[in-house]
Amino acid sequence: MPLNMTRGVTEISQQVYQLHMTIFWICCVIGAVVFGIMFWSIIRHRKARGVQPAQFHESTKVEILWTAIPVVILIGMAIPATKTLIAMEDTSAADVTVLVTGSQWKWHYKYLDHEIEYFSLLATPREQIANKLAKGENYLLEVDRPLVIPTGKKVRFLMTSDDVIHSWWVPAFAVKKDANPGFINEAWTRVDEPGIYRGQCAELCGKDHGFMPVVVIAKEPADYQVWVAQEEARIAAAKAAERELLAMSMDMAELMTTGERVYQGWCVACHQASGNGLPGIFPAIRGSQLVLNDRRAHIDIIVNGKPGTAMQAFGRQLSLKELAAVITYTRNAFDNNTGDAVQAAD
Ligand code: CUA
Repeated sequence: MPLNMTRGVTEISQQVYQLHMTIFWICCVIGAVVFGIMFWSIIRHRKARGVQPAQFHESTKVEILWTAIPVVILIGMAIPATKTLIAMEDTSAADVTVLVTGSQWKWHYKYLDHEIEYFSLLATPREQIANKLAKGENYLLEVDRPLVIPTGKKVRFLMTSDDVIHSWWVPAFAVKKDANPGFINEAWTRVDEPGIYRGQCAELCGKDHGFMPVVVIAKEPADYQVWVAQEEARIAAAKAAERELLAMSMDMAELMTTGERVYQGWCVACHQASGNGLPGIFPAIRGSQLVLNDRRAHIDIIVNGKPGTAMQAFGRQLSLKELAAVITYTRNAFDNNTGDAVQAAD
């Protein structure tokens, strides 16, 4: 039974499970009848030698029967299956809409009803996964920021991709939709029980396909509203800091000196002077794609901290100038491709 498909936690997933079981038992009965007659015939005639099979051509009665019976069975299966399929595709009248974008190898969630968007990245250290694998132990792949949805509400997902084809899959919701570049697929769910639900990218998308977990937290509507307010405030703070930073003009040499001072004062304890962090404990800054390429996310993490990790919020400790300086410094000091002229952080 653990190999059977999951029953899931939504009305649709229960319907899918019921369909699966109904069709499974129909197949079992057909299989039992067909193989039963075949083995009965083999055993019954095992000693017969030189016996001629019955010779006849066309039997209207048998032909009508073997056409009619499968037609009835197929229609019998198609009616409930089509009903469920139509219900699954009906994304109208949603309470919440989330744009889900897959990219190698992370998910990006954008709430279209709110000013909320963020990346959801693998947070379980690779060394820990390798250790558990080596010992044959089970393990869960955690993400830094799960998708958060309200319970009892219809949540619509718009799926797309930035690069190759991914697939957003949460078995408990019976939602598995391809995320195709240049195309939007739709799906929806309504979860009644608060909880943590897990899934995984289900379309082979490159070397880290196995490290694109999906984690969804379903919260009671009131808790969800609290989370929405927190996220909106967090993102507004990061955006405001970014706007002010862009409006500032600073000398490159001054940025690098101040940035180094800030790094030595605050960041070095965890991320180390080398920028390599402590493997499995604190992530490397050297060569980090987020540090090098994703300015807003970098500002966000420094200003607001990173929930669920040791990274605390520095929004109050650092002046905007120091923030600009440390971003410029880390981006330039820990780019593995240095050797080129030092570039200011935009
Ligand atoms: Cu993304 Cu597999």
